[in-house]
Amino acid sequence: MTNKIIKVGTFFSGIGSPEKALEKLKSEGYIDDYNLEFFSEIDKDAIKSYCAIHNINQELNVGNIVNIKGKDLPYCDLWIGGFPCQDISCAGKMKGFDITSSTRSSLGWEMIRLLGEVETKPKYVIFENVENITSKKFKETLNLFKRDLIDLGYTLYDKVLNAVDYGIPQTRKRYFLVAILDNNHNFKFPEPINNDMRSI
Ligand SMILES: C[S@@+](CC[C@H](N)C(=O)[O-])C[C@H]1O[C@@H](n2cnc3c(N)ncnc32)[C@H](O)[C@@H]1O
Repeated sequence: MTNKIIKVGTFFSGIGSPEKALEKLKSEGYIDDYNLEFFSEIDKDAIKSYCAIHNINQELNVGNIVNIKGKDLPYCDLWIGGFPCQDISCAGKMKGFDITSSTRSSLGWEMIRLLGEVETKPKYVIFENVENITSKKFKETLNLFKRDLIDLGYTLYDKVLNAVDYGIPQTRKRYFLVAILDNNHNFKFPEPINNDMRSI
Protein backbone atom coordinates (compact mmCIF):
# COMPACT_ATOMS: atom_id res chain seq x y z
CA MET A 1 0.00 0.00 0.00
CA THR A 2 2.92 2.36 -0.60
CA ASN A 3 3.21 5.32 -3.02
CA LYS A 4 -0.36 6.39 -2.63
CA ILE A 5 -2.85 8.04 -0.36
CA ILE A 6 -4.70 5.27 1.44
CA LYS A 7 -8.40 6.01 1.72
CA VAL A 8 -9.55 4.96 5.18
CA GLY A 9 -12.96 4.49 6.81
CA THR A 10 -13.42 3.38 10.40
CA PHE A 11 -16.41 2.02 12.34
CA PHE A 12 -16.88 2.06 16.13
CA SER A 13 -14.27 4.78 15.85
CA GLY A 14 -14.05 5.82 19.51
CA ILE A 15 -11.16 8.26 19.73
CA GLY A 16 -9.48 6.71 16.70
CA SER A 17 -6.45 4.76 17.90
CA PRO A 18 -6.01 2.94 14.56
CA GLU A 19 -5.95 6.36 12.92
CA LYS A 20 -3.10 7.31 15.31
CA ALA A 21 -1.29 4.13 14.27
CA LEU A 22 -1.61 5.20 10.63
CA GLU A 23 -0.13 8.57 11.56
CA LYS A 24 2.83 6.76 13.15
CA LEU A 25 3.26 4.54 10.06
CA LYS A 26 3.33 7.69 7.96
CA SER A 27 5.86 9.46 10.20
CA GLU A 28 8.09 6.37 10.08
CA GLY A 29 7.86 6.20 6.28
CA TYR A 30 5.96 2.89 6.02
CA ILE A 31 3.11 4.55 4.13
CA ASP A 32 3.10 7.70 2.05
CA ASP A 33 -0.13 9.16 3.34
CA TYR A 34 -3.73 8.37 4.25
CA ASN A 35 -7.00 10.22 4.16
CA LEU A 36 -9.92 9.70 6.53
CA GLU A 37 -12.95 9.36 4.25
CA PHE A 38 -15.46 8.72 7.06
CA PHE A 39 -15.80 7.51 10.62
CA SER A 40 -18.78 6.00 12.44
CA GLU A 41 -19.44 6.76 16.09
CA ILE A 42 -22.52 7.43 18.25
CA ASP A 43 -21.05 8.67 21.53
CA LYS A 44 -21.05 12.47 21.50
CA ASP A 45 -17.98 12.86 23.71
CA ALA A 46 -16.04 10.36 21.62
CA ILE A 47 -17.08 12.19 18.43
CA LYS A 48 -15.88 15.51 19.85
CA SER A 49 -12.59 13.99 20.97
CA TYR A 50 -12.11 12.14 17.67
CA CYS A 51 -12.52 15.35 15.66
CA ALA A 52 -10.17 17.28 17.94
CA ILE A 53 -7.50 14.56 17.94
CA HIS A 54 -7.57 13.98 14.19
CA ASN A 55 -8.37 17.56 13.25
CA ILE A 56 -11.36 16.69 11.11
CA ASN A 57 -14.92 17.87 10.73
CA GLN A 58 -17.86 16.16 12.49
CA GLU A 59 -19.55 15.94 9.08
CA LEU A 60 -17.31 12.97 8.29
CA ASN A 61 -19.18 10.99 10.97
CA VAL A 62 -21.63 8.66 9.24
CA GLY A 63 -23.22 7.89 12.60
CA ASN A 64 -24.91 4.77 13.89
CA ILE A 65 -23.69 1.79 11.87
CA VAL A 66 -27.16 0.24 11.94
CA ASN A 67 -28.51 3.13 9.85
CA ILE A 68 -25.69 3.30 7.30
CA LYS A 69 -26.41 2.18 3.76
CA GLY A 70 -23.51 0.81 1.73
CA LYS A 71 -24.40 2.95 -1.29
CA ASP A 72 -23.86 6.10 0.80
CA LEU A 73 -20.28 5.25 1.77
CA PRO A 74 -17.39 6.70 -0.23
CA TYR A 75 -14.87 4.19 -1.60
CA CYS A 76 -12.07 3.24 0.80
CA ASP A 77 -8.98 1.04 0.45
CA LEU A 78 -9.10 0.16 4.12
CA TRP A 79 -11.86 -0.28 6.68
CA ILE A 80 -11.10 -0.75 10.36
CA GLY A 81 -13.54 -1.73 13.10
CA GLY A 82 -12.93 -2.61 16.72
CA PHE A 83 -16.52 -3.57 17.44
CA PRO A 84 -17.89 -3.35 21.01
CA CYS A 85 -16.46 -6.08 23.22
CA GLN A 86 -18.67 -5.85 26.34
CA ASP A 87 -20.58 -9.03 25.46
CA ILE A 88 -17.44 -10.98 24.63
CA SER A 89 -15.02 -9.79 27.27
CA CYS A 90 -14.37 -11.89 30.43
CA ALA A 91 -15.12 -8.64 32.31
CA GLY A 92 -18.68 -8.62 30.92
CA LYS A 93 -21.61 -11.05 31.01
CA MET A 94 -20.42 -12.83 27.85
CA LYS A 95 -23.84 -12.74 26.16
CA GLY A 96 -21.99 -13.20 22.90
CA PHE A 97 -22.02 -11.71 19.43
CA ASP A 98 -24.41 -13.99 17.55
CA ILE A 99 -26.00 -12.12 14.65
CA THR A 100 -29.40 -12.58 16.36
CA SER A 101 -28.23 -11.74 19.88
CA SER A 102 -28.98 -7.99 19.65
CA THR A 103 -25.95 -7.41 21.85
CA ARG A 104 -23.66 -4.46 21.32
CA SER A 105 -21.01 -6.96 20.21
CA SER A 106 -23.29 -8.32 17.48
CA LEU A 107 -22.89 -4.91 15.79
CA GLY A 108 -19.71 -6.30 14.19
CA TRP A 109 -21.99 -8.12 11.72
CA GLU A 110 -23.13 -4.73 10.42
CA MET A 111 -19.69 -4.34 8.83
CA ILE A 112 -20.27 -7.65 7.00
CA ARG A 113 -23.65 -6.35 5.81
CA LEU A 114 -22.02 -3.16 4.52
CA LEU A 115 -19.25 -5.12 2.76
CA GLY A 116 -22.03 -6.89 0.88
CA GLU A 117 -23.76 -3.60 0.04
CA VAL A 118 -20.94 -1.32 -1.19
CA GLU A 119 -20.35 -1.09 -4.92
CA THR A 120 -16.59 -1.55 -4.54
CA LYS A 121 -15.38 -3.42 -1.49
CA PRO A 122 -12.31 -2.16 0.38
CA LYS A 123 -9.23 -4.22 -0.40
CA TYR A 124 -8.26 -4.40 3.26
CA VAL A 125 -10.46 -4.76 6.36
CA ILE A 126 -9.14 -5.02 9.90
CA PHE A 127 -11.31 -6.18 12.80
CA GLU A 128 -10.08 -5.95 16.38
CA ASN A 129 -11.51 -7.38 19.58
CA VAL A 130 -10.64 -8.91 22.93
CA GLU A 131 -8.72 -12.20 23.12
CA ASN A 132 -11.80 -13.94 24.55
CA ILE A 133 -13.43 -13.89 21.12
CA THR A 134 -11.17 -16.87 20.29
CA SER A 135 -12.42 -18.88 23.29
CA LYS A 136 -14.46 -22.08 22.91
CA LYS A 137 -17.63 -20.19 23.84
CA PHE A 138 -17.41 -17.90 20.82
CA LYS A 139 -15.56 -20.13 18.36
CA GLU A 140 -18.65 -21.13 16.37
CA THR A 141 -19.83 -17.52 15.94
CA LEU A 142 -16.33 -16.38 15.04
CA ASN A 143 -16.13 -19.14 12.42
CA LEU A 144 -19.46 -18.01 10.91
CA PHE A 145 -18.17 -14.42 10.86
CA LYS A 146 -15.00 -15.56 9.09
CA ARG A 147 -16.99 -17.76 6.67
CA ASP A 148 -19.06 -14.74 5.58
CA LEU A 149 -15.88 -12.77 4.89
CA ILE A 150 -14.45 -15.65 2.84
CA ASP A 151 -17.73 -15.81 0.88
CA LEU A 152 -17.31 -12.09 0.14
CA GLY A 153 -13.94 -12.90 -1.46
CA TYR A 154 -11.54 -12.14 1.35
CA THR A 155 -8.47 -14.10 2.43
CA LEU A 156 -8.11 -14.04 6.20
CA TYR A 157 -5.23 -13.82 8.63
CA ASP A 158 -5.85 -13.70 12.37
CA LYS A 159 -3.80 -13.65 15.53
CA VAL A 160 -3.84 -12.54 19.17
CA LEU A 161 -1.14 -9.94 19.72
CA ASN A 162 0.07 -8.64 23.08
CA ALA A 163 0.86 -4.92 23.37
CA VAL A 164 3.84 -5.63 25.64
CA ASP A 165 5.53 -7.42 22.70
CA TYR A 166 5.33 -4.26 20.61
CA GLY A 167 6.84 -1.57 22.80
CA ILE A 168 3.89 -0.80 25.08
CA PRO A 169 4.51 -1.32 28.83
CA GLN A 170 1.22 -3.14 29.39
CA THR A 171 -0.06 -6.68 28.94
CA ARG A 172 -3.01 -6.10 26.65
CA LYS A 173 -3.94 -8.98 24.39
CA ARG A 174 -6.08 -8.23 21.39
CA TYR A 175 -7.43 -10.37 18.58
CA PHE A 176 -6.78 -9.03 15.08
CA LEU A 177 -8.53 -10.32 11.96
CA VAL A 178 -7.07 -9.01 8.72
CA ALA A 179 -9.13 -9.56 5.57
CA ILE A 180 -7.53 -8.98 2.16
CA LEU A 181 -9.47 -9.05 -1.07
CA ASP A 182 -7.02 -11.10 -3.12
CA ASN A 183 -5.28 -14.31 -2.26
CA ASN A 184 -1.87 -13.42 -3.69
CA HIS A 185 -0.96 -11.44 -0.64
CA ASN A 186 1.76 -12.79 1.60
CA PHE A 187 0.59 -11.01 4.74
CA LYS A 188 2.44 -11.76 7.94
CA PHE A 189 1.78 -10.35 11.40
CA PRO A 190 4.79 -8.46 12.76
CA GLU A 191 7.18 -10.44 14.92
CA PRO A 192 7.40 -9.31 18.57
CA ILE A 193 10.01 -6.63 19.16
CA ASN A 194 12.77 -7.67 21.52
CA ASN A 195 12.68 -4.53 23.61
CA ASP A 196 13.01 -5.71 27.21
CA MET A 197 9.65 -4.09 27.93
CA ARG A 198 8.16 -5.03 31.30
CA SER A 199 4.38 -5.25 31.59
CA ILE A 200 2.36 -3.65 34.36
C1 LIG B 1 -14.44 -0.81 21.67
S1 LIG B 1 -14.84 0.86 21.34
C2 LIG B 1 -13.77 1.19 19.98
C3 LIG B 1 -12.61 2.03 20.35
C4 LIG B 1 -11.82 2.54 19.16
N1 LIG B 1 -11.20 1.46 18.44
C5 LIG B 1 -10.79 3.57 19.60
O1 LIG B 1 -9.68 3.52 19.08
O2 LIG B 1 -11.09 4.43 20.44
C6 LIG B 1 -16.41 0.73 20.55
C7 LIG B 1 -17.01 2.04 20.10
O3 LIG B 1 -18.18 1.73 19.34
C8 LIG B 1 -19.09 2.79 19.51
N2 LIG B 1 -20.42 2.30 19.09
C9 LIG B 1 -21.27 1.53 19.81
N3 LIG B 1 -22.39 1.29 19.10
C10 LIG B 1 -22.23 1.91 17.89
C11 LIG B 1 -23.04 2.01 16.73
N4 LIG B 1 -24.27 1.46 16.69
N5 LIG B 1 -22.56 2.70 15.66
C12 LIG B 1 -21.33 3.29 15.72
N6 LIG B 1 -20.52 3.23 16.81
C13 LIG B 1 -20.96 2.55 17.88
C14 LIG B 1 -18.97 3.10 20.99
O4 LIG B 1 -19.48 4.39 21.30
C15 LIG B 1 -17.47 2.95 21.22
O5 LIG B 1 -16.82 4.19 21.12
